[in-house]
Order: sequence, then C-alpha cells, then structure tokens
Amino acid sequence: DLIWPIFIVEGSGIRQPVASMPGVERLSVDEAVKDAIRAEGLGIPVLALFPYTNDELRDETGSEALNPNNLVCTACREIKKLGLNIGLMTDVALDPYTSHGHDGLLDGDKILNDETVDQLCRQALNQVEAGADIIGPSDMMDGRVAAIRASLDSANLRGTQIMAYTAKYASAFYGPFRDAIGTNATLIGDKRTYQMDSGNTDEAIREAELDIAEGADMIMVKPGLPYLDIVWRLKDTFRMPTYAYQVSGEFAMIEAAAANGWIDGDRAMLESLLAFKRAGADGVLTYYAPRVAELLADRT
Ligand code: PBG
Repeated sequence: DLIWPIFIVEGSGIRQPVASMPGVERLSVDEAVKDAIRAEGLGIPVLALFPYTNDELRDETGSEALNPNNLVCTACREIKKLGLNIGLMTDVALDPYTSHGHDGLLDGDKILNDETVDQLCRQALNQVEAGADIIGPSDMMDGRVAAIRASLDSANLRGTQIMAYTAKYASAFYGPFRDAIGTNATLIGDKRTYQMDSGNTDEAIREAELDIAEGADMIMVKPGLPYLDIVWRLKDTFRMPTYAYQVSGEFAMIEAAAANGWIDGDRAMLESLLAFKRAGADGVLTYYAPRVAELLADRT
C-alpha cells in the first residue's frame, strides 16, 4: 500500500538532510540506488522520484524537464539497471525546473495551460523511455491526462500507468517539500489558479470524472489527512484505485511534535496511516514508507 517519495540531487555519495523534514535526505543517484535496494528489501512496491535542480539549470520555461538525461531520468535508468522488483513513479510538472517555481509556463502572471500540456507530454515520454512505470502529473493543468495518454499511445508505450493528481488543493502543507526541491526560494506568487480551493468538494468530483474519462488508471487526493472526506467521497463515488498523499507538512508536524516529546511519533504515524485506509485509500504516498515497513516487519 506504500509509495515512497524520494528526492534526487546532483553529485555522488551525497545524502543531504532536508531541514524541515527530519530524517529525509536529498540523495545523489548512486545513493538513490541504495535506497531502491532497501525499499525492495522492505517490500515497498514503488518509489516516487522528485529532483532538486541546480539553480543554473532553472529557467523561464523549465527546459531541463525535457533533458532526457536530467536527474530523474538518470535515476530511473540506474535503478532499472539492477532489475529490482520495484516500480518507479515520476512526477510530471515543471516547478523543479522553472526559475519562477510554477508548475507551468507563464505569460506575465498567467499560466499558459495548453502550451504547458505540450511540454508535459514530452517530459512524460522521456521519463517512460528512461524506465518510469507510473506517470504522476502533479501540475494540475486541464486536459493533461488525455494528452499524456495519447502521446504515450502514439509512441507505442502502452504499458505505462497514469496516477492523476486528481484533487490537489492549493495547500500550506507543501512548505517542507518546496524546501526539499528548492522552490520555496524561487516561487513567485501562489498556485491558486491551477490548484484547487480547499473549501470545494464538488470540484474534486468533477476533476475525478474528467481524469477517469481521460484515461487515468489511479486517482489521488492531496494533501491527505486534512482531506480524508475527499478520499472517502472519491472512493465511494468512483470505485477507482484511490491514493492519498501524506504530504511534507503532515510529516513535518508529526516529526516536530514527536521531537518535542509532545506525542508518540510512531503511534501517531501508524494511526494516521490507518486513517487513510479507513477513509478508503488503496494506498498512501508517504515519507514514512521505510519507517512503517520496518516497524511492521519487526512485529511479525
Ligand atoms: C509540485 C508538487 C508539490 C508536491 C508534489 N508535487 C508541491 C507544490 O504543488 O508546490 C508536494 C508534496 C509534499 O508536500 O510532500 N508539482
């Protein structure tokens, strides 16, 4: 049920702590390979890869997203070389690569939806050619699931799954993640014109209808715990494989309280993961994936 998100950075032999996410590190590709081996040993079925792009590679159009040898594609190739029994999910969005930190192309302060979708399709193709098994569009542009599906089909890449970030809310809980990929420093403005309004449930239903019709294999709700009502409604309405993302801010809150001795961190973590399952999630993307897998292995 677990998907483990990890962060990739340039270099070798590097494990760089992320200050706002205790225990989470940015990994150079060789270290990511070691974590992939660890994940397989722990029975974690999928890793989700996110890059920290060096500043000089960030530009207005996020062109590094289209480099077939960028960090994420290189990590996919290196991990796949080992023939491990582990799936790779890659993120489709431009924010790790743009100088302004937005997930799409900008015209002044406006997002260019359709132009962005074209670029996302090319980004996804590179990732699948590098070995990605699941494409995770987190960009929130309209129409991207259908477009990515069509471009994969026309390249005869028919076995790839798409996990749509279906209900991704414009949330304060993404702060530590933006530290991890370096976009807290770059982001200009906010993402409220393309991410969802926290008060809106019906839009999540409409988005799910669209994503499923466009060819999504799985749908996702994000953040997780504060949005369990949405997880429940989507699972109950559509009966699709439904995932929740326990995002960086949720992780950071549990860690911070535990570090102060205010709560029992492991118990709070297990309870939060149980709550996702109770709400109907088939699986959870969580930075706790290795920790929970270890705890559960100790118990058996
Ligand atoms: C951006 C993206 C974000 C996350 C995953 N992909 C943040 C954002 O929308 O700014 C957040 C994940 C987390 O907080 O753990 N494409």
